[in-house]
Parts: sequence; C-alpha cells; structure tokens
Amino acid sequence: MKQTLTDNTVLNKAPAEDQSSNIGKRESPWPIFDVFPKLKPQLAPVSLCDLPTAVQPLSALGDKAWVKRDDLTHKRYGGNKTRKFEFIAAEILAANKKHVVTLGGTGTNHGVATAMVCQQLGLKCTVITFNQPDSKFVQKNQSLMKSFGAKIINAGPVALAALRFYVNPRRLHKDYYFLPGGGAIPVATMAYVNAAFELKRQIEKQQCPEPAEIYLPVGSASTLAGLTLGCALAGLKSKVIGIRVLDAKMGPVETCTNAVVNTLMAQARDILLQDYPQALKELPKAILRSDFFAPGYGVLTPATTHAMEQAQALGLTLDQTYSGKAFDAYLQALKITGKPILYWATYNSILEATTLPPQTGH
Ligand SMILES: Cc1ncc(COP(=O)(O)O)c(C=O)c1O
Repeated sequence: MKQTLTDNTVLNKAPAEDQSSNIGKRESPWPIFDVFPKLKPQLAPVSLCDLPTAVQPLSALGDKAWVKRDDLTHKRYGGNKTRKFEFIAAEILAANKKHVVTLGGTGTNHGVATAMVCQQLGLKCTVITFNQPDSKFVQKNQSLMKSFGAKIINAGPVALAALRFYVNPRRLHKDYYFLPGGGAIPVATMAYVNAAFELKRQIEKQQCPEPAEIYLPVGSASTLAGLTLGCALAGLKSKVIGIRVLDAKMGPVETCTNAVVNTLMAQARDILLQDYPQALKELPKAILRSDFFAPGYGVLTPATTHAMEQAQALGLTLDQTYSGKAFDAYLQALKITGKPILYWATYNSILEATTLPPQTGH
C-alpha cells in the first residue's frame, strides 16, 4: 500500500508567535527556547510533529505508573525518531541536500522514520541495512520503508553495511546527506533536551507528578543523552534510566556504552555553550543498564513477550527490539520503587492495524 500524505502536512518552519494576543495561540512545541532563546535561530527546527505528546496515568498498574506518549509524535509515523527529525531536518534543508542515506538493521524503525520524513520533505532516501533476526516487525518495517519511497540496500553482515555507509563514494557528492544510524547527531540530542523541557512544563501544569525514574530503550543513545542532559538543564530530579538493547561494541567500535552517551551529551552541550557559556558546568551521569539485553539485538524472549502483552492490554503497542525490553524493566521497577515512574514510549503506534503482515514465527 502506498503511503501518501493526504492530510495537510506541508512543511512548517517555526510558527511566528503573535505577541499581540494570546487568544488561540498554540503552545510552542519547543519550550527549550523559552529558557535558551538564542538557540532558536541556530537550531531552527522544522515543525513535523504533534507536540507536546501526552503524559497519561497507567492506572491499571497502580497510582505510580505513568507513560509519555512519544508513540504518537506524528500523524503518519510516531516514535522517538520522528521527534529527532524536527531538528535533523533543519540541518538537512539548511545544507540544501536532496538525498538522505542512512543505516540500520533490516527492521530499522529509524529507517522508516527517515523514509517518511524524506517523502514529506520531497527528498530521496536510501537505507543501507544489515541483517537482524527476522520477525513480523522486520517485515512490517521493510514494507513501510518501501511504501514511503525509500530504496533499501541490504549489505548482509553489519560490518559490510557499515563499510558501505562510511566508505561510500557518494559522500563526495554535494546532494547527499549521510545520516548515522539512529539519527544520532548532536542536533537530534537537542530534540530530546527539548523533550525534557516539555515534560517539565507538563509537571508544572500538574498533568503528572515529577517522576522519580524515567525508563526508555537505548540504541544509538541520543534519546537517552538528550533526556539525561535535558532533565539536568530543566532542574528535574528524575533519574533517566536507559535500557540497552544494542550490542555495546561492534568490532572495535563502541556503539552503546556510557562513553557513547557521554560523547553525545558533550556534543549537545557544546551547541548550548556557544550562546550560554555558563549553562552547565558538569555533564550529568548517564545511567545505562545492560541486564535486559541478552540474548541479543532484536531477539524475542519470553519476558519481553510478557511485557508486550501487558502493554497491549493497557492500549500500548510495543516492539520486541526496543520498547518491549524497556517496558519489562519498567514493570519490574514499579514493583520496588514506590514512587512515580514514567515509561517513555518510543515506538510508533500508528499504522499498526493497517500494515502488520500476518504473524509468522517470532
Ligand atoms: C522504538 C525505539 N525506541 C528506542 C530507540 C533507541 O533510540 P536511540 O537510538 O536514540 O537510542 C529506537 C532506535 O531505533 C527505537 O526504534
């Protein structure tokens, strides 16, 4: 089925704010600029998402359970990747690029978001993939990437895919933009710094309590980096707890470690320091747990299946590679913490009903 943008999702640059009247004024989707206004012209995000995403109680799990609905960031394809694209798109368009190339597993959610946003922006998209265990999620994402007009090149093993991405002659072509896997570039981290300010605004409006802990899955790590840095900048005391779902290293390269999270936070802080040299003296401590990773990337376990079923019963659709593992960790934390805990839903929940192929095996 071909996806077309039937709604009015023409690109919006940052909406001009009407200073003369507050009547009918939409809340800014980027509360980070209320605190750091000098960043606005530099980052100039593109309005693609439906922000803020809701915070909701998960009452069936008790009075401490809350969820942040980033599964609904966009009308066509939600999730954390789409939120990042508001800031990534600004960089691509400013550089006048015409073709985006990115990297991911065969079932990459990031690839789907990239394809969807490229279609929306009128850009070409190529996704270079590496093999991951086949599942209904992989098949669904393959068909979504194609339906959003992306060309998929499967390079087989991860090392070959990385070679094809990093040593690609098209890097020399002026029209091509090479976006690292997961969209993990510094401005994408800023999208999640902004998301922490969004949560703070919701806490101030008493839409939810300040969570003692926030749980989310971690792959390329810019979501964790952004939320950790953002909570520190926003003065939230919440501990942001990342659940690692990706191999810590691929060959000699660190892919999902504390060092990676720290580097991403430092790069985002550098953007901030250009205009706000006093902004943050020390980086906050990143929390990355590895105890839900086994037996490997994208492999479904009985515990993940159970967590996904519990989430489904609450109306939350999760995937086996990322969000299911983090929800498993969240459910366990709820049993012991005794304080409000927020699950940050990062997996797109739109398009599920219409595009899932029949279940096979996994
Ligand atoms: C559903 C989902 N959650 C979480 C993540 C991890 O986000 P990040 O790459 O920013 O660590 C991903 C990455 O692909 C994802 O698809």
